Amino acid sequence: MHAATVTLDPAFVVGPVRPRTFGSFVEHLGRCVYTGIHDPGHPTADADGFRGDVLDLTRELGVTTVRYPGGNFVSGYRWEDGIGPVDARPTRLDLAWHSSDPNTVGVDEFMRWAAKAGVEPMMAVNLGTRGVQEALDLLEYCNVPGGSFWSDRRRANGVEEPYRIRMWCLGNEMDGPWQIGHKTPQEYGRLAAETARAMRMMDPGVELVVCGSSSSDMPTFGEWERVVLTEAYEHVDHVSAHAYYWEEDGDLASFLASAVDMDHFVESVAATADQVRAAGKHTKRITISFDEWNVWYQKRAESRPPSGDDWPVAPVLLEDRYNVADAVVVGNLLVSLLRNTDRVHAASLAQLVNVIAPIMTEPGGRSWRQTTFHPFALTARHAAGDVLRVAVQSPAEETARFGDVPVLDAVATHDPGTGDVVLFAVNRSTTRAVDLDVDLRGFPGLRLVEALTLSNPDHTWQATADDATSVVPVVNTSAKVADDRARAELPAVSWSVLRLARA
Ligand code: AHR
Repeated sequence: MHAATVTLDPAFVVGPVRPRTFGSFVEHLGRCVYTGIHDPGHPTADADGFRGDVLDLTRELGVTTVRYPGGNFVSGYRWEDGIGPVDARPTRLDLAWHSSDPNTVGVDEFMRWAAKAGVEPMMAVNLGTRGVQEALDLLEYCNVPGGSFWSDRRRANGVEEPYRIRMWCLGNEMDGPWQIGHKTPQEYGRLAAETARAMRMMDPGVELVVCGSSSSDMPTFGEWERVVLTEAYEHVDHVSAHAYYWEEDGDLASFLASAVDMDHFVESVAATADQVRAAGKHTKRITISFDEWNVWYQKRAESRPPSGDDWPVAPVLLEDRYNVADAVVVGNLLVSLLRNTDRVHAASLAQLVNVIAPIMTEPGGRSWRQTTFHPFALTARHAAGDVLRVAVQSPAEETARFGDVPVLDAVATHDPGTGDVVLFAVNRSTTRAVDLDVDLRGFPGLRLVEALTLSNPDHTWQATADDATSVVPVVNTSAKVADDRARAELPAVSWSVLRLARA
Protein backbone atom coordinates (compact mmCIF):
# COMPACT_ATOMS: atom_id res chain seq x y z
CA MET A 1 0.00 0.00 0.00
CA HIS A 2 1.09 3.58 -0.68
CA ALA A 3 1.01 6.20 2.10
CA ALA A 4 0.13 9.84 1.45
CA THR A 5 -0.52 12.91 3.58
CA VAL A 6 -2.61 15.99 2.98
CA THR A 7 -2.39 19.13 5.11
CA LEU A 8 -5.28 21.59 5.25
CA ASP A 9 -5.15 25.14 6.46
CA PRO A 10 -7.97 27.72 6.36
CA ALA A 11 -5.49 30.44 5.32
CA PHE A 12 -4.61 28.77 2.01
CA VAL A 13 -7.56 30.12 0.04
CA VAL A 14 -7.33 29.94 -3.78
CA GLY A 15 -10.70 31.63 -4.35
CA PRO A 16 -14.40 30.98 -3.97
CA VAL A 17 -16.20 27.84 -5.12
CA ARG A 18 -17.91 29.20 -8.22
CA PRO A 19 -21.37 27.83 -9.01
CA ARG A 20 -20.58 28.14 -12.73
CA THR A 21 -17.87 25.50 -12.36
CA PHE A 22 -20.71 22.97 -12.44
CA GLY A 23 -22.13 23.85 -15.84
CA SER A 24 -23.04 21.50 -18.66
CA PHE A 25 -23.89 21.67 -22.35
CA VAL A 26 -26.91 20.88 -24.54
CA GLU A 27 -26.16 20.81 -28.28
CA HIS A 28 -28.40 19.96 -31.21
CA LEU A 29 -26.31 16.85 -31.72
CA GLY A 30 -27.45 13.24 -31.85
CA ARG A 31 -30.03 12.57 -29.15
CA CYS A 32 -29.09 15.32 -26.72
CA VAL A 33 -32.09 17.54 -27.51
CA TYR A 34 -34.51 15.23 -29.35
CA THR A 35 -35.30 12.16 -27.18
CA GLY A 36 -32.85 13.57 -24.62
CA ILE A 37 -34.34 16.63 -22.94
CA HIS A 38 -37.33 16.72 -25.36
CA ASP A 39 -39.49 13.67 -26.01
CA PRO A 40 -43.18 14.64 -26.23
CA GLY A 41 -44.37 11.01 -26.35
CA HIS A 42 -42.54 10.05 -23.17
CA PRO A 43 -44.70 9.07 -20.16
CA THR A 44 -43.04 11.75 -18.00
CA ALA A 45 -43.19 14.50 -20.66
CA ASP A 46 -44.80 17.78 -19.60
CA ALA A 47 -47.01 20.05 -21.71
CA ASP A 48 -43.90 21.41 -23.45
CA GLY A 49 -42.68 17.91 -24.34
CA PHE A 50 -39.80 17.95 -21.83
CA ARG A 51 -38.98 14.68 -20.13
CA GLY A 52 -39.68 14.92 -16.41
CA ASP A 53 -37.22 12.12 -15.60
CA VAL A 54 -34.40 14.03 -17.34
CA LEU A 55 -35.35 17.28 -15.59
CA ASP A 56 -35.22 15.43 -12.25
CA LEU A 57 -31.80 13.93 -13.06
CA THR A 58 -30.51 17.32 -14.25
CA ARG A 59 -31.49 18.87 -10.93
CA GLU A 60 -29.98 15.94 -9.01
CA LEU A 61 -26.75 16.33 -10.99
CA GLY A 62 -26.52 19.87 -9.62
CA VAL A 63 -25.92 21.51 -12.98
CA THR A 64 -25.83 25.30 -12.70
CA THR A 65 -25.35 26.67 -16.24
CA VAL A 66 -26.14 25.06 -19.61
CA ARG A 67 -24.45 26.11 -22.82
CA TYR A 68 -26.69 26.02 -25.95
CA PRO A 69 -27.21 25.31 -28.92
CA GLY A 70 -23.64 24.19 -29.83
CA GLY A 71 -20.89 23.26 -30.33
CA ASN A 72 -20.12 22.66 -33.98
CA PHE A 73 -23.86 22.86 -34.69
CA VAL A 74 -24.01 26.58 -33.93
CA SER A 75 -21.65 27.47 -36.78
CA GLY A 76 -24.37 26.70 -39.35
CA TYR A 77 -27.40 27.59 -37.23
CA ARG A 78 -30.12 30.08 -38.13
CA TRP A 79 -31.73 30.82 -34.78
CA GLU A 80 -34.80 32.39 -36.47
CA ASP A 81 -35.75 28.89 -37.74
CA GLY A 82 -36.49 27.87 -34.17
CA ILE A 83 -39.04 30.54 -33.17
CA GLY A 84 -42.77 30.98 -33.79
CA PRO A 85 -45.37 28.28 -34.54
CA VAL A 86 -43.64 24.90 -34.45
CA ASP A 87 -45.47 23.46 -37.47
CA ALA A 88 -44.25 26.38 -39.62
CA ARG A 89 -40.58 25.84 -38.77
CA PRO A 90 -38.27 24.52 -41.50
CA THR A 91 -36.27 21.33 -41.35
CA ARG A 92 -32.63 22.14 -42.05
CA LEU A 93 -29.56 20.09 -42.83
CA ASP A 94 -27.01 20.28 -40.06
CA LEU A 95 -23.64 19.98 -41.80
CA ALA A 96 -21.67 19.63 -38.58
CA TRP A 97 -23.25 16.29 -37.66
CA HIS A 98 -24.72 15.32 -41.04
CA SER A 99 -28.19 15.28 -39.54
CA SER A 100 -31.57 16.97 -40.05
CA ASP A 101 -33.00 19.37 -37.53
CA PRO A 102 -36.77 19.92 -37.52
CA ASN A 103 -36.29 22.98 -35.28
CA THR A 104 -39.00 21.73 -32.91
CA VAL A 105 -36.80 23.04 -30.11
CA GLY A 106 -35.46 26.56 -30.48
CA VAL A 107 -34.46 29.40 -28.20
CA ASP A 108 -37.88 29.83 -26.51
CA GLU A 109 -38.23 26.10 -25.81
CA PHE A 110 -34.67 25.92 -24.49
CA MET A 111 -35.28 28.89 -22.21
CA ARG A 112 -38.46 27.25 -20.87
CA TRP A 113 -36.50 24.05 -20.23
CA ALA A 114 -33.69 26.00 -18.52
CA ALA A 115 -36.20 27.69 -16.19
CA LYS A 116 -37.70 24.31 -15.28
CA ALA A 117 -34.25 22.82 -14.71
CA GLY A 118 -33.24 25.86 -12.65
CA VAL A 119 -30.10 26.50 -14.70
CA GLU A 120 -28.51 29.66 -16.06
CA PRO A 121 -28.40 29.66 -19.88
CA MET A 122 -25.15 30.30 -21.72
CA MET A 123 -26.00 31.17 -25.33
CA ALA A 124 -23.68 30.76 -28.30
CA VAL A 125 -23.93 32.89 -31.45
CA ASN A 126 -23.04 31.70 -34.95
CA LEU A 127 -19.78 33.29 -36.13
CA GLY A 128 -19.20 30.57 -38.73
CA THR A 129 -21.74 31.25 -41.49
CA ARG A 130 -23.04 34.46 -39.89
CA GLY A 131 -21.77 37.59 -38.20
CA VAL A 132 -22.38 40.75 -36.19
CA GLN A 133 -25.93 41.43 -37.39
CA GLU A 134 -27.36 37.99 -36.65
CA ALA A 135 -25.72 37.99 -33.22
CA LEU A 136 -27.33 41.37 -32.52
CA ASP A 137 -30.71 40.11 -33.74
CA LEU A 138 -30.59 37.17 -31.34
CA LEU A 139 -29.46 39.39 -28.47
CA GLU A 140 -32.33 41.80 -29.25
CA TYR A 141 -34.81 38.90 -29.30
CA CYS A 142 -33.54 37.62 -25.95
CA ASN A 143 -32.60 40.65 -23.90
CA VAL A 144 -34.43 43.78 -25.09
CA PRO A 145 -37.73 44.37 -23.21
CA GLY A 146 -39.77 45.46 -26.26
CA GLY A 147 -40.49 48.21 -28.77
CA SER A 148 -38.17 46.87 -31.48
CA PHE A 149 -38.59 44.34 -34.29
CA TRP A 150 -37.03 41.26 -32.66
CA SER A 151 -38.05 42.02 -29.08
CA ASP A 152 -41.65 42.43 -30.26
CA ARG A 153 -41.39 39.12 -32.14
CA ARG A 154 -40.49 37.47 -28.83
CA ARG A 155 -43.49 39.10 -27.16
CA ALA A 156 -45.70 38.02 -30.06
CA ASN A 157 -44.38 34.50 -29.47
CA GLY A 158 -45.75 34.66 -25.93
CA VAL A 159 -42.70 35.76 -23.92
CA GLU A 160 -43.43 39.20 -22.48
CA GLU A 161 -40.37 39.61 -20.27
CA PRO A 162 -36.85 39.61 -21.76
CA TYR A 163 -34.66 36.64 -20.86
CA ARG A 164 -31.72 38.90 -19.99
CA ILE A 165 -29.19 36.16 -20.75
CA ARG A 166 -25.81 37.14 -19.28
CA MET A 167 -23.29 34.64 -20.70
CA TRP A 168 -22.68 34.61 -24.48
CA CYS A 169 -20.15 32.58 -26.46
CA LEU A 170 -18.74 34.32 -29.55
CA GLY A 171 -18.89 31.31 -31.86
CA ASN A 172 -17.43 27.88 -31.29
CA GLU A 173 -13.97 26.39 -31.90
CA MET A 174 -13.29 28.82 -34.74
CA ASP A 175 -9.72 27.52 -35.17
CA GLY A 176 -10.89 24.00 -36.12
CA PRO A 177 -10.73 23.06 -39.84
CA TRP A 178 -13.89 20.96 -39.17
CA GLN A 179 -15.78 24.09 -38.11
CA ILE A 180 -18.12 25.58 -40.70
CA GLY A 181 -16.62 28.98 -41.54
CA HIS A 182 -13.43 28.41 -39.54
CA LYS A 183 -11.02 31.31 -39.55
CA THR A 184 -7.48 32.46 -39.06
CA PRO A 185 -6.85 34.00 -35.64
CA GLN A 186 -6.67 37.49 -37.19
CA GLU A 187 -9.99 37.01 -39.02
CA TYR A 188 -11.71 35.57 -35.98
CA GLY A 189 -10.17 38.02 -33.51
CA ARG A 190 -11.47 40.99 -35.53
CA LEU A 191 -14.93 39.47 -35.95
CA ALA A 192 -15.15 38.53 -32.28
CA ALA A 193 -14.05 42.01 -31.21
CA GLU A 194 -16.57 43.74 -33.47
CA THR A 195 -19.40 41.39 -32.47
CA ALA A 196 -18.58 41.89 -28.80
CA ARG A 197 -18.42 45.67 -29.16
CA ALA A 198 -21.78 45.81 -30.91
CA MET A 199 -23.39 43.38 -28.43
CA ARG A 200 -22.27 45.57 -25.54
CA MET A 201 -23.71 48.64 -27.29
CA MET A 202 -27.08 46.86 -27.14
CA ASP A 203 -26.65 45.31 -23.68
CA PRO A 204 -23.64 46.46 -21.62
CA GLY A 205 -24.33 43.78 -19.03
CA VAL A 206 -23.46 40.76 -21.17
CA GLU A 207 -20.47 38.58 -20.26
CA LEU A 208 -18.62 37.47 -23.36
CA VAL A 209 -16.56 34.35 -24.04
CA VAL A 210 -14.11 34.51 -26.94
CA CYS A 211 -13.02 31.23 -28.56
CA GLY A 212 -9.67 29.88 -27.46
CA SER A 213 -8.12 26.91 -29.25
CA SER A 214 -10.39 23.91 -29.67
CA SER A 215 -7.73 21.82 -27.92
CA SER A 216 -4.22 22.21 -26.61
CA ASP A 217 -3.18 19.68 -29.30
CA MET A 218 -3.93 22.19 -32.07
CA PRO A 219 -0.76 23.29 -33.87
CA THR A 220 -1.83 26.90 -33.34
CA PHE A 221 -2.48 26.51 -29.59
CA GLY A 222 -1.03 29.48 -27.73
CA GLU A 223 -0.50 31.61 -30.81
CA TRP A 224 -4.25 31.49 -31.52
CA GLU A 225 -5.01 32.79 -28.03
CA ARG A 226 -2.34 35.47 -28.33
CA VAL A 227 -3.58 36.86 -31.65
CA VAL A 228 -7.30 36.59 -30.81
CA LEU A 229 -6.87 38.25 -27.43
CA THR A 230 -4.66 40.95 -28.91
CA GLU A 231 -7.63 41.87 -31.14
CA ALA A 232 -10.43 41.39 -28.63
CA TYR A 233 -8.96 41.83 -25.12
CA GLU A 234 -10.90 44.90 -24.03
CA HIS A 235 -14.20 43.63 -25.42
CA VAL A 236 -14.43 40.19 -23.79
CA ASP A 237 -14.38 38.68 -20.31
CA HIS A 238 -13.42 35.04 -20.74
CA VAL A 239 -11.47 32.89 -23.18
CA SER A 240 -12.76 29.38 -23.79
CA ALA A 241 -10.86 26.14 -23.26
CA HIS A 242 -12.01 22.78 -24.65
CA ALA A 243 -10.44 19.44 -23.84
CA TYR A 244 -11.51 15.93 -24.74
CA TYR A 245 -8.34 14.10 -25.52
CA TRP A 246 -8.55 11.91 -22.50
CA GLU A 247 -9.37 8.35 -23.38
CA GLU A 248 -8.19 5.06 -22.09
CA ASP A 249 -6.43 3.50 -25.05
CA GLY A 250 -4.61 0.72 -23.21
CA ASP A 251 -2.56 3.07 -21.03
CA LEU A 252 -4.60 3.29 -17.84
CA ALA A 253 -1.87 5.04 -15.83
CA SER A 254 -1.64 7.98 -18.26
CA PHE A 255 -5.41 8.15 -18.58
CA LEU A 256 -5.81 8.36 -14.80
CA ALA A 257 -3.30 11.24 -14.78
CA SER A 258 -5.44 13.35 -17.16
CA ALA A 259 -5.88 16.11 -14.57
CA VAL A 260 -2.15 16.85 -14.87
CA ASP A 261 -2.89 17.80 -18.43
CA MET A 262 -5.89 19.96 -17.49
CA ASP A 263 -3.76 21.85 -14.93
CA HIS A 264 -1.13 22.45 -17.60
CA PHE A 265 -3.73 23.58 -20.12
CA VAL A 266 -5.18 26.15 -17.68
CA GLU A 267 -1.72 27.38 -16.76
CA SER A 268 -0.78 27.83 -20.45
CA VAL A 269 -3.95 29.73 -21.42
CA ALA A 270 -3.63 31.95 -18.33
CA ALA A 271 0.02 32.68 -19.16
CA THR A 272 -0.86 33.65 -22.74
CA ALA A 273 -3.74 35.88 -21.60
CA ASP A 274 -1.44 37.56 -19.08
CA GLN A 275 1.21 38.12 -21.72
CA VAL A 276 -1.36 39.93 -23.90
CA ARG A 277 -2.44 41.88 -20.80
CA ALA A 278 1.12 43.04 -20.19
CA ALA A 279 1.89 43.79 -23.84
CA GLY A 280 -1.36 45.71 -24.30
CA LYS A 281 -1.07 47.53 -20.96
CA HIS A 282 -4.53 46.31 -19.99
CA THR A 283 -5.61 46.31 -16.37
CA LYS A 284 -8.39 43.73 -16.28
CA ARG A 285 -7.60 40.02 -16.23
CA ILE A 286 -9.17 37.60 -18.72
CA THR A 287 -10.55 34.47 -17.06
CA ILE A 288 -11.18 31.02 -18.51
CA SER A 289 -14.48 29.45 -19.46
CA PHE A 290 -13.64 25.72 -19.70
CA ASP A 291 -16.87 25.25 -21.60
CA GLU A 292 -16.28 21.79 -23.06
CA TRP A 293 -14.56 19.09 -21.05
CA ASN A 294 -15.05 15.37 -20.61
CA VAL A 295 -13.77 11.91 -21.38
CA TRP A 296 -14.64 11.15 -25.01
CA TYR A 297 -13.81 7.95 -26.89
CA GLN A 298 -13.50 9.73 -30.20
CA LYS A 299 -12.13 6.76 -32.11
CA ARG A 300 -15.21 4.64 -31.47
CA ALA A 301 -17.80 4.14 -34.22
CA GLU A 302 -20.42 6.00 -32.15
CA SER A 303 -18.56 9.23 -32.85
CA ARG A 304 -18.77 8.93 -36.66
CA PRO A 305 -21.59 11.02 -38.18
CA PRO A 306 -23.82 9.55 -40.92
CA SER A 307 -22.83 10.14 -44.55
CA GLY A 308 -24.16 10.26 -48.12
CA ASP A 309 -27.89 10.81 -48.52
CA ASP A 310 -28.57 9.80 -44.96
CA TRP A 311 -29.50 12.92 -42.95
CA PRO A 312 -31.37 11.47 -39.97
CA VAL A 313 -33.08 13.39 -37.18
CA ALA A 314 -31.46 12.69 -33.81
CA PRO A 315 -29.19 9.78 -34.79
CA VAL A 316 -27.26 7.81 -32.19
CA LEU A 317 -24.02 9.80 -31.99
CA LEU A 318 -21.24 10.06 -29.39
CA GLU A 319 -23.19 7.81 -27.00
CA ASP A 320 -20.16 6.78 -24.96
CA ARG A 321 -20.77 4.34 -22.10
CA TYR A 322 -18.61 5.29 -19.16
CA ASN A 323 -16.87 2.95 -16.75
CA VAL A 324 -15.51 3.35 -13.24
CA ALA A 325 -12.09 4.58 -14.41
CA ASP A 326 -13.81 7.21 -16.55
CA ALA A 327 -15.72 8.40 -13.49
CA VAL A 328 -12.51 8.59 -11.44
CA VAL A 329 -10.98 10.75 -14.18
CA VAL A 330 -14.07 13.00 -14.34
CA GLY A 331 -13.86 13.39 -10.55
CA ASN A 332 -10.18 14.27 -10.85
CA LEU A 333 -10.87 16.82 -13.59
CA LEU A 334 -13.32 18.50 -11.22
CA VAL A 335 -10.54 18.58 -8.62
CA SER A 336 -8.43 20.39 -11.21
CA LEU A 337 -11.22 22.87 -12.08
CA LEU A 338 -11.73 23.68 -8.39
CA ARG A 339 -8.00 24.01 -7.76
CA ASN A 340 -7.90 26.56 -10.60
CA THR A 341 -10.91 28.53 -9.36
CA ASP A 342 -8.83 31.73 -9.33
CA ARG A 343 -8.61 31.51 -13.13
CA VAL A 344 -11.41 29.19 -14.30
CA HIS A 345 -14.62 31.12 -13.71
CA ALA A 346 -16.99 28.84 -15.64
CA ALA A 347 -16.94 25.28 -16.97
CA SER A 348 -19.31 22.99 -18.87
CA LEU A 349 -19.25 19.21 -18.76
CA ALA A 350 -19.93 18.26 -22.38
CA GLN A 351 -22.61 17.18 -22.70
CA LEU A 352 -25.70 16.66 -20.52
CA VAL A 353 -27.81 13.89 -22.05
CA ASN A 354 -26.95 10.92 -24.33
CA VAL A 355 -24.05 12.65 -26.12
CA ILE A 356 -20.88 11.94 -24.06
CA ALA A 357 -23.14 12.48 -21.11
CA PRO A 358 -23.74 11.61 -17.46
CA ILE A 359 -27.47 11.03 -18.19
CA MET A 360 -28.69 8.45 -20.70
CA THR A 361 -32.17 7.87 -22.08
CA GLU A 362 -34.06 5.41 -24.23
CA PRO A 363 -36.42 7.16 -26.67
CA GLY A 364 -39.80 6.98 -24.95
CA GLY A 365 -38.29 4.75 -22.26
CA ARG A 366 -35.91 4.49 -19.35
CA SER A 367 -33.25 6.95 -18.21
CA TRP A 368 -30.23 6.23 -16.04
CA ARG A 369 -27.14 7.68 -14.44
CA GLN A 370 -23.75 6.84 -15.95
CA THR A 371 -20.78 6.28 -13.60
CA THR A 372 -19.58 9.82 -14.31
CA PHE A 373 -22.81 11.22 -12.89
CA HIS A 374 -21.76 10.47 -9.31
CA PRO A 375 -18.52 12.42 -8.82
CA PHE A 376 -20.07 15.40 -10.61
CA ALA A 377 -23.25 15.37 -8.50
CA LEU A 378 -21.38 14.90 -5.21
CA THR A 379 -18.83 17.61 -5.99
CA ALA A 380 -21.54 20.06 -7.10
CA ARG A 381 -23.55 19.31 -3.95
CA HIS A 382 -20.79 19.47 -1.36
CA ALA A 383 -18.12 21.91 -2.59
CA ALA A 384 -18.93 25.15 -0.74
CA GLY A 385 -17.29 28.34 0.46
CA ASP A 386 -13.60 28.73 -0.34
CA VAL A 387 -11.38 26.42 -2.33
CA LEU A 388 -8.26 25.58 -0.33
CA ARG A 389 -4.86 24.85 -1.77
CA VAL A 390 -3.81 21.63 -0.05
CA ALA A 391 -0.30 20.41 0.62
CA VAL A 392 -0.04 16.85 -0.72
CA GLN A 393 2.82 14.49 -0.01
CA SER A 394 2.37 11.47 -2.17
CA PRO A 395 4.45 8.78 -3.79
CA ALA A 396 4.54 8.97 -7.58
CA GLU A 397 4.01 6.33 -10.25
CA GLU A 398 5.47 6.57 -13.72
CA THR A 399 3.20 7.27 -16.67
CA ALA A 400 4.08 7.13 -20.36
CA ARG A 401 2.47 10.52 -21.15
CA PHE A 402 3.21 12.61 -18.10
CA GLY A 403 6.28 11.07 -16.47
CA ASP A 404 6.15 10.59 -12.69
CA VAL A 405 2.73 11.55 -11.36
CA PRO A 406 1.71 11.69 -7.67
CA VAL A 407 -0.81 8.91 -7.12
CA LEU A 408 -2.86 11.01 -4.72
CA ASP A 409 -4.53 14.18 -5.95
CA ALA A 410 -6.82 16.27 -3.76
CA VAL A 411 -8.53 19.59 -3.23
CA ALA A 412 -10.55 20.86 -0.30
CA THR A 413 -13.28 23.40 0.30
CA HIS A 414 -14.02 25.29 3.51
CA ASP A 415 -17.22 27.12 4.24
CA PRO A 416 -16.27 29.87 6.73
CA GLY A 417 -19.95 30.30 7.64
CA THR A 418 -20.73 26.74 8.70
CA GLY A 419 -17.17 25.61 9.32
CA ASP A 420 -17.71 22.61 7.02
CA VAL A 421 -14.64 21.19 5.33
CA VAL A 422 -14.87 18.84 2.35
CA LEU A 423 -11.95 16.93 0.88
CA PHE A 424 -12.11 15.47 -2.64
CA ALA A 425 -9.38 12.86 -3.12
CA VAL A 426 -8.37 10.62 -6.01
CA ASN A 427 -6.12 7.58 -5.93
CA ARG A 428 -4.64 7.39 -9.43
CA SER A 429 -2.58 4.27 -8.80
CA THR A 430 -3.61 1.45 -11.09
CA THR A 431 -2.68 -1.25 -8.55
CA ARG A 432 -2.11 0.00 -5.02
CA ALA A 433 -4.38 1.41 -2.34
CA VAL A 434 -3.38 4.63 -0.58
CA ASP A 435 -3.33 4.98 3.19
CA LEU A 436 -4.41 8.63 3.45
CA ASP A 437 -3.53 10.74 6.49
CA VAL A 438 -5.07 14.23 6.62
CA ASP A 439 -3.58 16.82 8.96
CA LEU A 440 -6.51 18.87 10.29
CA ARG A 441 -4.71 20.85 12.99
CA GLY A 442 -5.72 24.02 11.14
CA PHE A 443 -9.34 23.06 11.89
CA PRO A 444 -9.33 21.77 15.46
CA GLY A 445 -12.19 19.55 16.60
CA LEU A 446 -13.71 18.51 13.27
CA ARG A 447 -15.82 15.34 13.13
CA LEU A 448 -16.49 13.05 10.19
CA VAL A 449 -19.95 13.50 8.67
CA GLU A 450 -19.60 11.14 5.72
CA ALA A 451 -16.94 9.44 3.62
CA LEU A 452 -17.94 8.04 0.24
CA THR A 453 -15.74 6.22 -2.26
CA LEU A 454 -16.36 5.23 -5.87
CA SER A 455 -14.29 2.24 -6.98
CA ASN A 456 -14.72 -1.34 -8.14
CA PRO A 457 -12.37 -4.32 -8.45
CA ASP A 458 -13.24 -4.22 -12.16
CA HIS A 459 -12.63 -0.62 -13.19
CA THR A 460 -14.22 -1.32 -16.59
CA TRP A 461 -17.67 -1.81 -15.07
CA GLN A 462 -20.27 0.35 -16.86
CA ALA A 463 -23.77 1.38 -15.86
CA THR A 464 -26.58 0.29 -18.19
CA ALA A 465 -30.35 0.82 -18.28
CA ASP A 466 -30.70 -2.61 -16.65
CA ASP A 467 -28.10 -2.05 -13.95
CA ALA A 468 -27.08 1.47 -13.07
CA THR A 469 -26.80 0.94 -9.32
CA SER A 470 -24.48 -2.03 -8.59
CA VAL A 471 -21.49 0.31 -8.55
CA VAL A 472 -22.08 3.72 -6.99
CA PRO A 473 -20.18 5.68 -4.33
CA VAL A 474 -20.51 3.80 -1.02
CA VAL A 475 -19.58 4.55 2.57
CA ASN A 476 -15.86 4.17 3.12
CA THR A 477 -15.84 2.33 6.47
CA SER A 478 -12.09 2.80 6.91
CA ALA A 479 -12.50 6.59 7.28
CA LYS A 480 -11.98 7.89 10.83
CA VAL A 481 -11.26 11.25 12.47
CA ALA A 482 -9.35 11.48 15.75
CA ASP A 483 -6.94 13.96 17.32
CA ASP A 484 -7.30 16.42 14.43
CA ARG A 485 -6.30 13.85 11.85
CA ALA A 486 -8.50 12.06 9.30
CA ARG A 487 -7.49 8.67 8.01
CA ALA A 488 -8.92 6.61 5.18
CA GLU A 489 -7.87 3.82 2.91
CA LEU A 490 -8.45 4.72 -0.73
CA PRO A 491 -8.54 1.76 -3.14
CA ALA A 492 -6.61 1.83 -6.42
CA VAL A 493 -8.48 3.72 -9.18
CA SER A 494 -10.88 5.48 -6.83
CA TRP A 495 -12.53 8.84 -6.20
CA SER A 496 -13.61 9.85 -2.69
CA VAL A 497 -15.28 12.66 -0.79
CA LEU A 498 -14.73 13.20 2.95
CA ARG A 499 -17.15 15.58 4.64
CA LEU A 500 -16.11 17.09 7.95
CA ALA A 501 -17.99 19.42 10.28
CA ARG A 502 -17.52 21.18 13.60
CA ALA A 503 -18.14 18.80 16.50
O1 AHR B 1 -19.20 18.21 -27.73
C1 AHR B 1 -19.01 17.65 -28.99
C2 AHR B 1 -18.28 18.57 -29.97
O2 AHR B 1 -16.95 18.69 -29.55
C3 AHR B 1 -18.77 19.98 -30.05
O3 AHR B 1 -19.81 20.15 -30.96
C4 AHR B 1 -17.56 20.73 -30.51
O4 AHR B 1 -17.55 22.07 -30.07
C5 AHR B 1 -16.40 19.92 -29.99
O5 AHR B 1 -15.45 19.69 -30.95
